[in-house]
Amino acid sequence: MRKTIPDFEKMKQAGEKISMLTAYDYPSAQFVEEAGVDMILVGDSLGMVVLGYDSTVPVTMEEMLHHTKAVRRGASQTFIVTDMPFMSYATIDLAIVNAGRLIKEGGADAVKLEGGMDIVPIVQTLTRAGIPVVGHIGLTPQTANQLGGYKVQGRDLDSAVQLVKDGQALEQAGAFMIVLEAIPRQVAAQISSGLRIPTIGIGAGPDCNGQVLVFHDILGLFKRFTPKFVKQYAELRLDSVQAIQQFHNEVKQSTFPSEEHTFGLSDEVIQKLYG
Ligand code: KIV
Ligand code: NA
Repeated sequence: MRKTIPDFEKMKQAGEKISMLTAYDYPSAQFVEEAGVDMILVGDSLGMVVLGYDSTVPVTMEEMLHHTKAVRRGASQTFIVTDMPFMSYATIDLAIVNAGRLIKEGGADAVKLEGGMDIVPIVQTLTRAGIPVVGHIGLTPQTANQLGGYKVQGRDLDSAVQLVKDGQALEQAGAFMIVLEAIPRQVAAQISSGLRIPTIGIGAGPDCNGQVLVFHDILGLFKRFTPKFVKQYAELRLDSVQAIQQFHNEVKQSTFPSEEHTFGLSDEVIQKLYG
């Protein structure tokens, strides 16, 4: 059964952790749903792990829609959050049109936007229009250059206080959940305990109300870099290359296809054809 926004709030109240994992296409969505994960994020990280861009900045609305549709086809029973890509919510007018498309055409249940107090008017407009919004504060990859790179945020007093304020502002603006990325555990704990809505951490320590990671990172499918907060649960890239090498070698050695993967004619037809 697809969980609902009230279910996630109840999980926070009951102290039950929320699991979230990214998925980007039909098979990955099927795997995540079959594993019983609570929510799927169609992250704009797909720009890096699936499309090979250097950052999330080039990702387009059309790409997010394309992947969201495939994920929905693979996971009809799972709550889906889709990232709004860079520049798709630069104004309120753009935000409402683009968020509406991700829900109506893409089949997402909610959208995620990067930013705190600065995006309050957009979050208000979207929630009033009936579009569920997830916030994302701390390390915000779409504006990583302004933050001085992919760095832990909220380490000094001023920026820690700002993050707490951002969390409160997002909740008041109507966000139903907030992703906290790459911040000290103490700051994440304070944000989480001070809010009614759940927090989902990535590199934000164990006291968030849930955790999210990237599909390709936990399965060992992406090798360009691995942040400290990633836990890798499998080595599928290596397994894949080895399997492909074996196929390649068997073709070269003519050991594939063998009898079991080959069609033939019946003896009767062979007899008639070739005597
Ligand atoms: O794009 C993404 O995958 C994300 C998560 C890492 C939170 O935004
Ligand atoms: Na993202």
